[in-house]
Amino acid sequence: MKHEKLYIVMVGLPARGKSTIANRLKENLNRDAIKTRIFNNGDLRRKLISANTSSSEFYHPKNKEGLELREKIALINIWGAKNYLKNKGKVAILDATNVSRERREKIIGLFTEYPILFIECINTDLEILKASILRKITLPEFNHLERDAAVQNFNNRINYYKTIYTPLRHESNFIKLDSLNNQILEEELSEGIPYYDRIRDFLVSDTVKNLFLIRHGETYFNLGNRIGGDSPLTEYGKAQAWALATYFKTKKIPLIFTSQKTRTIETAEPICELQGDCTVIPLAEFNEIDAGVCECMSYEEIREQMGHVYFTRAIDKYNYIYPQGEGYISMKERIDSGIKKALYLSSNSENIMIIGHRAVNRMILSHFLYRRKEDVPYIYIPQDKFYHIVATQDKKLFQLKKYEPAD
Ligand code: F6P
Repeated sequence: MKHEKLYIVMVGLPARGKSTIANRLKENLNRDAIKTRIFNNGDLRRKLISANTSSSEFYHPKNKEGLELREKIALINIWGAKNYLKNKGKVAILDATNVSRERREKIIGLFTEYPILFIECINTDLEILKASILRKITLPEFNHLERDAAVQNFNNRINYYKTIYTPLRHESNFIKLDSLNNQILEEELSEGIPYYDRIRDFLVSDTVKNLFLIRHGETYFNLGNRIGGDSPLTEYGKAQAWALATYFKTKKIPLIFTSQKTRTIETAEPICELQGDCTVIPLAEFNEIDAGVCECMSYEEIREQMGHVYFTRAIDKYNYIYPQGEGYISMKERIDSGIKKALYLSSNSENIMIIGHRAVNRMILSHFLYRRKEDVPYIYIPQDKFYHIVATQDKKLFQLKKYEPAD
């Protein structure tokens, strides 16, 4: 290969997942002994300028002072990246919006020694964007603002960037990435890009460092073998939740994703309490399979009173859809979308936790672990064990681990 050094330039509006991707790329390349460093304009701005620069007006394209300061910061990082590659560094990642053609021309004019790969992060899912902005405004620079004012401020910042945003087109080497779905929307390569095959494969792979997939604790409905509904946990179920809380106490879990059902939220509560800095995010996508006309019935009652449902389902459980309800097959889309949301919102977190239900957890497991469709509705999902899943470019792990409530 002609070159073994590379510049990567991130492009995209704020809150589109650029930093998450930059950080994961860095970790991944460094693990392969390819020395990689990130040059992040936002971090440098917060470090160098003591005045509060979180105000959206700082980003107004006509704010001359703001513009000068931001250009200065961009230049410091550009020169930092050049120096890094001049010495021992192999890959320098410029992490900033870089949305204007003008800024990119400047970068191209200065990064002349090695190839440049531009990676544009695109996310058009408004719900995800809203949730990402809510995460962003937890940064200390927004502490002085009320929640709504901070959101407004961040949205204004995005809108200012939109006025100068020119998507990639004329650059020689680029990837346009749907950062929510890990999907390459467009790619253009006009020269050999070092490490390209591993970078490309990495961008389209899910990165799950540690996912703890838990089924809610025992409920009153479980005792009666009843399905669906919104039963709370039994005393034993609550003890299971506390046992989980103790088990995970020493792991840092910033976000816990649950369904909107009482039993998963109640299981999350003690875990969150022992974590300290932790938020529970109930997602409708992780609600248990809707058993339609059979909701709240026991399996015995279904067999006796609705034999056709019971026996037809038994023949082809994956494809069977409950009258006025769902089937495994029809849950797939929402479960996949819930997984994407959970992974995206967790950014580059070491640990992610999802507390779901029997059918939901089967579908989540089958997202990461191939199973024939007909076997998915029978995956073993106990209530006294959880799955530890690791799915990165170079490691896949599925481990069923037991936890026990104290007597
Ligand atoms: O625990 C019961 C339950 O979560 C029900 O709410 C749901 O209908 C069922 O498990 C799903 O399992 P199966 O598809 O095997 O009936």
